[in-house]
Amino acid sequence: PWRSLLVLLSLHTVAGMSGWSECLDGQDVLAKIKENSLTGDTVAEFVANTDLKGVRWSLSGRDADWFYLDGRNIRLNTSAEKVLDQETLGPVLMAELSCYEEDMFQTVYRVMVEILNENDNLPMFSEKSVQSLRLNELTPVNAVAFTVQAFDADDDKILYSIDQTSPDAEYFKIDRPNSGEVILSKPLDYETKTQLTVTIYASEMNTAEHYNTSTNVTIMVQDGDDQYPRFVPCVLLFQDETSRICTSPTYMVNVTEGEEDIVLEFSPGPIHAVDGDRGINSSISYAILSEDEGGHFSINRETGELRLMKGLKDRLLTPVVHLQVMAYQDDDPRKYSVATVLVRLLAVNQFHPEFELPEYCGFVTAGKSAASLVNTYGSRALILNVLDQDFDNGFNPMIYFSLGVTSNHTDIYQVTQSGLLIAKTSHLKPKQKHVLEVMAVDQESGDSTYSTVVVEVLPEGQLIPHSPLVNERLTGCTVGKALFLSMAFMGAIGCILSVLMWLKRKRKGMRDPLERGCVAQGKHPNVSTEFELSSPVKLTTIP
Ligand SMILES: *[C@@H]1O[C@H](CO)[C@@H](O)[C@H](O)[C@H]1NC(C)=O
Ligand SMILES: *[C@@H]1O[C@H](CO)[C@@H](O)[C@H](O)[C@H]1NC(C)=O
Ligand SMILES: *[C@@H]1O[C@H](CO)[C@@H](O)[C@H](O)[C@H]1NC(C)=O
Ligand SMILES: *[C@@H]1O[C@H](CO)[C@@H](O)[C@H](O)[C@H]1NC(C)=O
Ligand SMILES: *[C@@H]1O[C@H](CO)[C@@H](O)[C@H](O)[C@H]1NC(C)=O
Ligand SMILES: *[C@@H]1O[C@H](CO)[C@@H](O)[C@H](O)[C@H]1NC(C)=O
Repeated sequence: PWRSLLVLLSLHTVAGMSGWSECLDGQDVLAKIKENSLTGDTVAEFVANTDLKGVRWSLSGRDADWFYLDGRNIRLNTSAEKVLDQETLGPVLMAELSCYEEDMFQTVYRVMVEILNENDNLPMFSEKSVQSLRLNELTPVNAVAFTVQAFDADDDKILYSIDQTSPDAEYFKIDRPNSGEVILSKPLDYETKTQLTVTIYASEMNTAEHYNTSTNVTIMVQDGDDQYPRFVPCVLLFQDETSRICTSPTYMVNVTEGEEDIVLEFSPGPIHAVDGDRGINSSISYAILSEDEGGHFSINRETGELRLMKGLKDRLLTPVVHLQVMAYQDDDPRKYSVATVLVRLLAVNQFHPEFELPEYCGFVTAGKSAASLVNTYGSRALILNVLDQDFDNGFNPMIYFSLGVTSNHTDIYQVTQSGLLIAKTSHLKPKQKHVLEVMAVDQESGDSTYSTVVVEVLPEGQLIPHSPLVNERLTGCTVGKALFLSMAFMGAIGCILSVLMWLKRKRKGMRDPLERGCVAQGKHPNVSTEFELSSPVKLTTIP
């Protein structure tokens, strides 16, 4: 099919001729040959008689090297290194075919060979077409993110498409496939993704082969100012990546009543905020937002350091001071965040609270009533009392009483917050003796102290002794004879002494002080010392 054509043109170039010549039989040669044809392929056959003696033909001119003569044929001269490439040679090869008779130049014919293009080139992305680019995260969706351009040496029309398997294909789309415009189809977010990679194809549109080529485009996302400052350490509301809702921490500090001119050291960390836009990292300023009556606090605008200027008073009235602290961007104060600051006012705590007595003696009468108070000598209510020297009158209102966690008989006894012991009387049997461990905790400082209560169950009708001096055998909660006198006069101190004595005389077989018991006198700021209860007291409700 690609046989060369001989186009007959009767354009004779006769230069300085004197008579008819064999050379004058020829014609100009116009032919077409396919790109990439091989050496030896016939370009054209010409009609001139080449067999005549004395007549010689020769090729010359610009592209003569591409051809050689073989009898009546003009053939192609190519090689592996010398490929007939339309894209480099251009569309036409030109040479001249000269005719000599007896070495005398007679005439010349033109040889024009058109190279027929073959689709032998892939599209190529132009060098200035993007390989990597920067894109602001605030670029709106549906805007042109970037433009690519590819060329095809065969001049084929090109179609652009996105490789949907490339990592971040979902972020882009192509609306006009011939334009090379790549559109943003999903919002960018520097805070979750700072770099995107997408593969773009350029494919031939109008060829049978549909050759294609691809380029990887790397997009560096640039931070835009779309995030507010955030206090650190920030608390993520949800742990998944999509919703990074961050809440400010609550900054907490304990100060002691009267403390002043100190820098507050907060938990979980110092008051500090950072720009949510990590890539911009605007500088942040701080301010106290809430009203600070009396000007107790001052915040360092640059560092966020909070200082207590004037001591806080009235701990019982305002145990906790709430402040709102604001952090805002210096370059745009409309971008701000607020955090809560809690300043807890604590009492001075130099001393440990302590039970007035290391051991208390109690009596309760077994009976039919549901519950009754535990009494002590003289039928007074047994009142546990804790002394805290941090307080003028020794009374710490934050003391919380309970039975120790390891205490026995917690099913029978309960302690009220005024230090009274209540027993479920119906559970009791005469002559039982219960040893209870009682605990008092200062709820402000967390300090705790322990004591022991020895409760003896009396049969109904039996009177509670007036003092440990009365009949030893009856009560069983009395002191040993050696301490008889000291107990009578020294009251509570005697109890401590008895323990010491017992420790000293332990080897002589003395009884345990728990068995002997100690004196306890109800003394409590909440309960007047005159407060006496006949035993058993009937209580209607038990907490
Ligand atoms: C073919 O081309 C080569 C290189 O251009 C040249 O050296 C050689 O002589 C040519 N062959 C003929 C037969 O003209
Ligand atoms: C690109 O060309 C390859 C190989 O011919 C083919 O497998 C692939 O489907 C083409 N891709 C596109 C997008 O045209
Ligand atoms: C594009 O990236 C893919 C995967 O990383 C790689 O296989 C491919 O060769 C790259 N293409 C180009 C044109 O660099
Ligand atoms: C932000 O800037 C501050 C100084 O202005 C610097 O100390 C800090 O490291 C920066 N943070 C980031 C994440 O670049
Ligand atoms: C509770 O009773 C057990 C056995 O009687 C005794 O070993 C333990 O010390 C008692 N616990 C307290 C806190 O008194
Ligand atoms: C403040 O004191 C309370 C106990 O009174 C303690 O539980 C809390 O952890 C303290 N808070 C700080 C921030 O030190």
